[in-house]
Amino acid sequence: MYRTHHCNELRITHAGEEVCLTGWVDSTRDHGGVIFVDLRDREGITQVVFRPEENAEAAEASHHLREEDIIRVQGHVVQRLRTEEVDTENPNLATGKIEVTCATFDVLSKAAVLPFQLDRDHTHEDTRLRHRYLDLRRPRMTRNLRLRHNAAKATRSYLDEQGFIEVETPILSKSTPEGARDFLVPARLTPGSFYALPQAPQQYKQLLMVAGVERYYQIARCFRDEDLRSDRQLEFTQIDIEASFVTSSEIRDLVEGLLCRVFHETLGVGLERPFLTLTHREAIDRFGIDKPDLRFGMEIVDLADVFTDSDFKVFRGALDSGGSVKAINAKGFASITTGQIERLTNLALEHGAKGLAFIKVENGAWKSPIVKFFTETQKSQLIQRLNIEEGDLILFGADRWRTACEVLGRVRLEVASMLNLLRDKDDWKVLWVTEFPLLDFDPAEQKWNAVHHPFTRPLAEDLEKLEAGDYENVRSDAYDIVLNGFELGGGSIRIHEPELQRKMFSILGVTEEQQEIQFGHLLEAFRYGAPPHGGIALGFDRTVMLLAGEDSIREVIAFPKNNRGHDLMSQSPSEVDPRQLRDLYLHSTLQGKPVESS
Ligand code: AMO
Ligand code: AMP
Repeated sequence: MYRTHHCNELRITHAGEEVCLTGWVDSTRDHGGVIFVDLRDREGITQVVFRPEENAEAAEASHHLREEDIIRVQGHVVQRLRTEEVDTENPNLATGKIEVTCATFDVLSKAAVLPFQLDRDHTHEDTRLRHRYLDLRRPRMTRNLRLRHNAAKATRSYLDEQGFIEVETPILSKSTPEGARDFLVPARLTPGSFYALPQAPQQYKQLLMVAGVERYYQIARCFRDEDLRSDRQLEFTQIDIEASFVTSSEIRDLVEGLLCRVFHETLGVGLERPFLTLTHREAIDRFGIDKPDLRFGMEIVDLADVFTDSDFKVFRGALDSGGSVKAINAKGFASITTGQIERLTNLALEHGAKGLAFIKVENGAWKSPIVKFFTETQKSQLIQRLNIEEGDLILFGADRWRTACEVLGRVRLEVASMLNLLRDKDDWKVLWVTEFPLLDFDPAEQKWNAVHHPFTRPLAEDLEKLEAGDYENVRSDAYDIVLNGFELGGGSIRIHEPELQRKMFSILGVTEEQQEIQFGHLLEAFRYGAPPHGGIALGFDRTVMLLAGEDSIREVIAFPKNNRGHDLMSQSPSEVDPRQLRDLYLHSTLQGKPVESS
């Protein structure tokens, strides 16, 4: 037998019992020849004492124990000494009122000296990833894995209660347009052809609706060959959902219930329902971004009417040419340094602004290169609109509406980070963003792209605009869910009519021939009684990252790739035997540059 108890189980009520514990030596301490070991397993830590008077041989052998050796200990539970003079209890440990006196023990596995110390939080990530099996022994990582498991469990039970069934869709599949590059897998049995790994199970889940499944979900692995970031991996997991005969508000209601359940089961936190909803236009107008972080205010304020007759050429010019003048109040940030102002200005310029006018309110005066252009009326209007007080910093954007909003949106986030407003990870601000534009014009390619994907349905009231070719103003029945500035998920009601789907493809420049090759199966399926349907996919890694209070999804994935897309532990990707390539009818055209190794 390896154990009678886990290492977090024993309490005073167990005193006197014979027990057997197995685990890793977390630490050893030598107190005048008596060895104390903190024994650790998945559940926690128990202190084991090796006393010569109990078993001289075992006590002697315990001197040779090293951190991360695995031992099995037989012994009895003893209440820790606590008197006026000495208190050996450890209030930080669940088992801190007892210890186990070792009668006998054996070493099940010896550990070599570790490449890094497990109790340090600042080990270089590459080192951690290279030895991920050690990194995962750390309590923080064990907790993250558990949290992920619990979030998946809550998801499954909630969706099951709501009548959803989990269906697995193929990994060896066909390219589906989600906006990233595909990972391709050569098909040996069909020389010259390739499978694509799914960027999302989008078409399969829609086909399941045609199949009459009505309510589908899958905790689905997705693959996208795109640049990595702290919230992006090459392979990641979605909670993928699709339902028939639903409206978008019913999908949103379902997802609100799901998130509430997950938050409750994992953190014991209650989220307030219904979640706030902003249209895409409102989100851009007030926060300059389609995934606003609402943990702080600093809303963008429109000042068009204040400056219609302004003497300041920049403001007047923007308004005269149909643009906007907008501002944010960075409360209490008049103390901003020149260097910081410069950083903000550069950020604004990078995002297409022509400048970043500002006012500092210090010692009752407005310090600004532009204040000389303002009339008294304009000043008092500004005070009122922006709630200007002593110590504030006002930042202006004058440009086309979209640029002015987006620039101030970026500046708003940077100011929040300078002021440390993004620290509070237990403040949950969740919202829906709806009514996204359906299409977006790419001037470089001179073509329209789908903002979400080509299966997204135009809003019924905008169908006429679609017919009339007024693509810019067609909104979609799509929705994103946003949590603390992260896009957690997105979805839409779909097109289910073959004619409308064909029309959408042709607007996107997909020729009829390409439509047949790429989407013929879907277009055909839609001819045989396709139900109205819609769905959503939530980024599961991102959700767990936020639940865990982590800054990167790598912290909640057991074996992630680093930001160059490498698995440092198994050294993948790696070169393969030329014979493997030959079997797959592949030949590399790469010249000179060897496979990068890390
Ligand atoms: P979308 O492309 O918006 O929609 O993806 C849904 C959610 O998946 C997460 N996500 C990622 N997470 C980690 N790494 C990545 N590289 C990555 N890419 C996306 C995000 C995102 O919000 N088929 C549609 C959904 C639908 O219409 O039902 C889709 O995949 O959290
Ligand atoms: P100028 O008159 O060009 O020297 O600009 C005066 C101030 O206005 C400077 O602080 C500029 O950064 C700022 N500024 C110039 N153009 C814009 C603009 N389009 N939006 C906001 N601020 C601007």
